[in-house]
Amino acid sequence: MPRMDQRLPANVRRDQDPGGRDMLRLEHEGDVVEVALCGAQVLRWLRDGTDLLWTASQPKYAAGQPVRGGVPLVFPWFGDHPDGGKLPAHGFARNQTWQLVHANDTPEVVLELVDDDATHKMWPHAFRLRLSVVLGAKLRLGLSIENTGDQPFSCEQALHTYFSVGDVHTATVHGLEGATCIEQASEPEAKWDRKQPLHFRAETDRIFQGVPDRLELRAPALARTVVLQTTGAQSAIVWNPWPNKTAKLSQMAAEDWQQFCCIESANVRAHAVTIAPGESHALTLRLDCRAS
Ligand code: BG6
Repeated sequence: MPRMDQRLPANVRRDQDPGGRDMLRLEHEGDVVEVALCGAQVLRWLRDGTDLLWTASQPKYAAGQPVRGGVPLVFPWFGDHPDGGKLPAHGFARNQTWQLVHANDTPEVVLELVDDDATHKMWPHAFRLRLSVVLGAKLRLGLSIENTGDQPFSCEQALHTYFSVGDVHTATVHGLEGATCIEQASEPEAKWDRKQPLHFRAETDRIFQGVPDRLELRAPALARTVVLQTTGAQSAIVWNPWPNKTAKLSQMAAEDWQQFCCIESANVRAHAVTIAPGESHALTLRLDCRAS
């Protein structure tokens, strides 16, 4: 099991992010993916030097905090903690330091987080999370959640991917037509056609349930289409904060909302996953980006 001080394949390098935090840099035929050990967060995915993921314009690379951008992980609850209070939004996995437990020259890295005294204070269960990041012609992320305790537990989880779209007004999401939708935005679009591809015309914060495995994000402003292919994900959350919510968010400049949208590959609310002792759940996301 390689740790940060052990030998890695030539195409996986230890590095530091702009905040001096430990990260891994994987390279494959000129493409690069950077993964921070903090939160096992994919920070960037570069193809021909172009960022395919989005990062806020005032990013903070701070210890124990997610960067607003890339792919933060959500676990074991989505959004605010169900009991309110002071527990972190979207759970604690994105704030913890993960360990590198495997690397190979595919290139692939596997990071791991297990429960400890600190996590027990927030969530009283024994678990092992593993995130596998594989860089090839596509980027593949696999989150596995193992119940290492002796009681079943229920958890929510998401790969909270921030995508660059150039101009969110022209971006569209395809594949969610007709899916059950729970609107969460404070200032949502008054009326929209649920049978049509999703357009961004107002603050958008929609949980879709029972979603298909294949979604498409079209970003004509960047002449780019991203195909999201999942396994083990019943939910998708589509999010853009529009200007009023942006003003309340960390790491964002006033105009940032125009440049991105999030599509989260997830299992939340009615699709929270219950895992028996000794069992696991796997959620995978494969991203493919094409010129269009
Ligand atoms: C999305 C939620 O998942 O994450 C939004 O649906 C939320 O409501 C957004 O604002 C960002 O959350 P955070 O905690 O990273 O600021």
